[in-house]
This record gives sequence, C-alpha cells and structure tokens, in this order.
Amino acid sequence: NKEIKIGLLGCGTVGSGVYKILEGNADSISKKSGAKLVVNKILVKDKTEPLVVDVNKDLLTENFEDVLNDSEIEIVVEVIGGVNPARDFVLRSLKSGRSVISANKELIAKHGEELLAAAEENEVDFYFEASVGGGIPIISPLKEDLAGNKITKVMGIVNGTTNYILTKMDQEGAEFDTVLKKAQELGYAEADPTSDIEGYDAAYKLAILASIAFESRVNIDDVYMEGITKITKEDITYARELGYKLKLLAIGKQNEGIELRVHPTFLPKEHPLAKVDDVFNAIFIEGDAIGEAMFYGPGAGQMPTGSAIVGDVIAAARNINYGAQGRIACTCFDQKEVKNREE
Ligand code: HSE
Repeated sequence: NKEIKIGLLGCGTVGSGVYKILEGNADSISKKSGAKLVVNKILVKDKTEPLVVDVNKDLLTENFEDVLNDSEIEIVVEVIGGVNPARDFVLRSLKSGRSVISANKELIAKHGEELLAAAEENEVDFYFEASVGGGIPIISPLKEDLAGNKITKVMGIVNGTTNYILTKMDQEGAEFDTVLKKAQELGYAEADPTSDIEGYDAAYKLAILASIAFESRVNIDDVYMEGITKITKEDITYARELGYKLKLLAIGKQNEGIELRVHPTFLPKEHPLAKVDDVFNAIFIEGDAIGEAMFYGPGAGQMPTGSAIVGDVIAAARNINYGAQGRIACTCFDQKEVKNREE
C-alpha cells in the first residue's frame, strides 16, 4: 500500500490534534486518501520541551531544512502561526513541489496571494480550511459548493476566545482576565491573546472569507477593527436587560463596493448569532441563489481545528495520488453492520 509522508511544522495544541487524528483514524483516512498518511518529521522549537501528544521522538527536529531535505515528504502541514518564519517555510515548501496545508490566518490574510501564486506555479495544493472557524467547514463550501452564487454577505462570530469571554462574563458574571486565562488553558487563545481580544484574529479571518466570498483581493488594512478590551460587565448586563446580547461580529458586505468591519455589536437575543455561545463560531452567508445559510460549530481547540486540517490533508493526498481535485469518492466505503438499539 502506498504511503504519503507528511512534514508537520509545529506540534503545539493544533499540531498535536492533527497527529492524534491521523493516528486514531488511520484506517478510514487511508481508505479515503488512497494511501497511508504517515508523519515523517515534526519541526519543534525545542526538542527537550515536553509535547502534549505522545510521538516517536525520532521524528522531532529543530531544523526546517531537515523537513525540506526529506525527499519522501510530499505534504507539509504548517501550524506554527504568525508570519515569521511561517511564510518562509510555507513558500519554500510550495516551491519545492510540496502541497501545503496551513491553519495560519495571519499569514493567509497578509500573504495569501503570494502563497496561492506559488502553489499554482508549482502545481501543488495550498489549502487553509482551518484558518477560519476552527472545525467548521466554511472555506471549502464557499469556494466549491456555493461557487454558483454571487455572495452579498458574510457575517459571523469567528473568534472563539472572545466569544467564550463574552459568554462567561454574561452567564457567570466572571471577570475578563479570569475567563481569558481559562480560554488560554483550554487551548482556544492565540499564543499572544492580544490578537484575539483586540480583534486582529477576527479581522484576518474576515479578510480570508471576504476574499473568497467576494472574489476579490482584500487588503487587511481595509478592515475596520475594534476588539472587546473596552467592554465591561455593566455593558453586558445592560444589554441583557434590554433584550440584547453583545457579540464580536465580523461583517462583510458586497453591494456597490465591499464593506469590512469587526466590532462588538448588540444583537437582539432572538437573532440566530445571539445564540452562538462559548467557543462556538457561526458564519452566516447570503447568496443570490441559496438565500441565507448559516455554518455553526466549534471555532477553536485542538481536535476541531485538527479535523479541518486533516480534511485538507486528505484532499491534497488524493490529488497527489490520483492527479484529480480531491473530492472524497464514496466508493471507498465498506458496508458496516447496522445495529439498532432496542427501544
Ligand atoms: N484564537 C483563535 C480563536 C483560534 O479563539 O478563535 C482559532 O482560530
């Protein structure tokens, strides 16, 4: 059976999730990919630091060149985050003929154009489903299933950390700092949570969504941005008393031109987005053919984000294997026994 080797750049919260899913669901993943997917190298900052997942220590390296020079590796997964050195690693991987999967919203929002061009030039894939909405499928549906639409609106809650903070401040009367710490412990927040609470993370995600939905290049500086650092418990209490919920919304509209904003918003409590709590994200879209649709699910965390990445890895593996744009063919499924519980 053919093997496809993977280079994993980063093994923190998300990288560990990817590793666990590839190992735990190996059989089904191999059927869907048409090849066994094997992690061949893992790039870490410090080999002596303990990892949150049990991996074969021989796979670890502190040097990106070891990944680049491993001629067996055909897919690179980048989960380091931030622009540097991720941009260099991703570019060099693409230019060396490897497909790349990235969860890095800052990198894609700022340098997506350059990276997609490099992928096209080198006839490899560059996928980034995990960069927006954690585990929620949204990039692929926008790109493919909704491709027949003119999208006029993408609006949503796209940052799990701030949604978790606002929810706990509302439901438990908790203090901002205490909840932020909890979000960090749960692996939702960025390494530097400033990006979450000041709105940068949501702005990057909106730029990515808008570029695909509105078929346009989007400059990150064109996104108006305001985070949640000025929100007090009193604001949230008043909102509740008046029948509103306070949410950090990312709003993209396409009419004559394009409008892009991230800011805290009072939503009537009956609004579908007002019911999206904790780490959950939701993206509401409006298209001329489909009408309105909403995508909802876990917006951050080890396994949900890992789920989105592994989906992309499987698509890239199929393309390597079959030379076709990789939708999963259901012909690879065996029949399983149906066992209904007795009522
Ligand atoms: N820090 C991000 C969030 C992680 O809280 O949504 C997922 O992109």
